Amino acid sequence: MLQAKGIQKNYGTLEVLKGIDFSVAEGEIVTIIGKSGAGKSTFLHILGTLDIPDRGELSFEGKKVDFSNESALSSLRNEKLGFIFQFHHLLNEFTAWENVCIPAMIRGGEKMDNLKSKAEEYLSYLGLQDRMNHKPNALSGGEAQRVAIARALMNQPKLILADEPTGNLDKVNSEEMHKLFIKLRDDFGQSFVIVTHNLELAALSDRTIRMEDGYIIS
Ligand SMILES: Nc1ncnc2c1ncn2[C@@H]1O[C@H](COP(=O)(O)OP(=O)(O)O)[C@@H](O)[C@H]1O
Ligand SMILES: [Mg+2]
Repeated sequence: MLQAKGIQKNYGTLEVLKGIDFSVAEGEIVTIIGKSGAGKSTFLHILGTLDIPDRGELSFEGKKVDFSNESALSSLRNEKLGFIFQFHHLLNEFTAWENVCIPAMIRGGEKMDNLKSKAEEYLSYLGLQDRMNHKPNALSGGEAQRVAIARALMNQPKLILADEPTGNLDKVNSEEMHKLFIKLRDDFGQSFVIVTHNLELAALSDRTIRMEDGYIIS
C-alpha cells in the first residue's frame, strides 16, 4: 500500500535519515522502535506527507506522491491517512463526537446528521458510548486517546500513522490501546505504522523495525 525508497532528510548539517527503504502492506501493523532522536518522528511525518524528504520517493497505492502539489497532499492526508499523536490534540471547546467529526467536516460532502451517527458508531465501538457529549477536559487520558482514534478512523483511512500513541498512558490504558489496534486490524483490515517505545506493543505487531543512526538496522 505504501512504499518509501531511499528517503533522506537533513536538518541543516544534521543527517537525520540517510536513505530509508520501507513498505507497508494492507492489513499490516508495523511498529518502529529506536532511541530518542533516531529520526522516528521525522520518518513518520514524511510517510504522512507532513514533512518533505530531501531525497527519495514515496508511493501510495502504486502512485508516486508529488511533494510539490500541496492540494494533492492535503487530499491524500484527508482521504487516505489517519493520524494519532502522543498528545491527542483534541479541541477543548468541542464535545467528543464533534471532535471526531472535524476531519469529515473538512472533507465535506456529507450531512451533519450522517456524520454525527457515524461518529457515534465509532465512539461506541471504542467503548465511549457514555462519553460522546463530554468535552476533552472531562475525559481521562485513555478516553481522550480513544476519541483521537475515533477521529482518525472517521474518514476510513487506508493507513493510520501513530507517533507514540501510548506514550502518555498508564500500563492498563496502554494495553487496552494495543488490543484496540489489533482489533481494528482484525475487524477492518486496518493498516498501521506505529512509532513506540513499548516493546509489548511491538511484540504484538506483525513486524517491527529498528531505526538507528539514520538507517533501519533490523
Ligand atoms: N524541525 C526540526 N529542525 C531541526 N532539527 C530537527 C527537527 N525535527 C527533528 N530534528 C532533529 O532530528 C533528530 C531526529 O528527531 P526525531 O525524528 O524527532 O527523533 P525521534 O522521534 O526518533 O525521537 C533529532 O536530533 C532532532 O533534534
Ligand atoms: Mg519522536
